[in-house]
Amino acid sequence: MRTDIQNSVLCWLATVDSSGTPNVTPKEIFSSYGDDRIVVADIASTNTVRNIRSHPTVCVSFIDIFRQRGFKVVGSATIIGPEEPDFAIVGADLLRLAGVDFPIRHVISIHMERVSRIWAPSYALFPDRTEEERIQVAYDTYGVVAAG
Ligand SMILES: Cc1cc2nc3c(=O)[nH]c(=O)nc-3n(C[C@H](O)[C@H](O)[C@H](O)COP(=O)(O)O)c2cc1C
Repeated sequence: MRTDIQNSVLCWLATVDSSGTPNVTPKEIFSSYGDDRIVVADIASTNTVRNIRSHPTVCVSFIDIFRQRGFKVVGSATIIGPEEPDFAIVGADLLRLAGVDFPIRHVISIHMERVSRIWAPSYALFPDRTEEERIQVAYDTYGVVAAG
């Protein structure tokens, strides 16, 4: 999962508000923490933070678009503010990834409760493809060409 997190450009974090209306938005600054947590930076995620405070169950998904696979994680989120000692500890990766240009308002810490793999349909339809072939197909599909 750590490899897939590193290879994922974004994660998508889904929450619900107090009336049950879903909200899903992309977050680029995310990482794992320990063996059982995903952490996400609140830089500009007012609604996500508000929703978690009233309803902590969240779902986060991320994929490596070139390997065409990733994870879906359901868990319970807590909001860690900068005044809390855990902010710098649990958020260490996030602070490094965000750098000084993107101030982190809160660390969103998600305790993983259910983890499932996301596979592109091509894994079932073309099970004999090698990883290199899958990556090449993705390059072709997305128009990615080698630099130089
Ligand atoms: C490419 C991309 C990366 C983003 N990364 C983050 C991020 O890491 N953290 C964050 O708080 N917002 C990030 N955002 C912005 C939020 O997705 C955006 O502010 C969104 O409207 C927040 O919605 P919410 O208030 O419903 O949570 C990103 C947006 C884009 C387009």
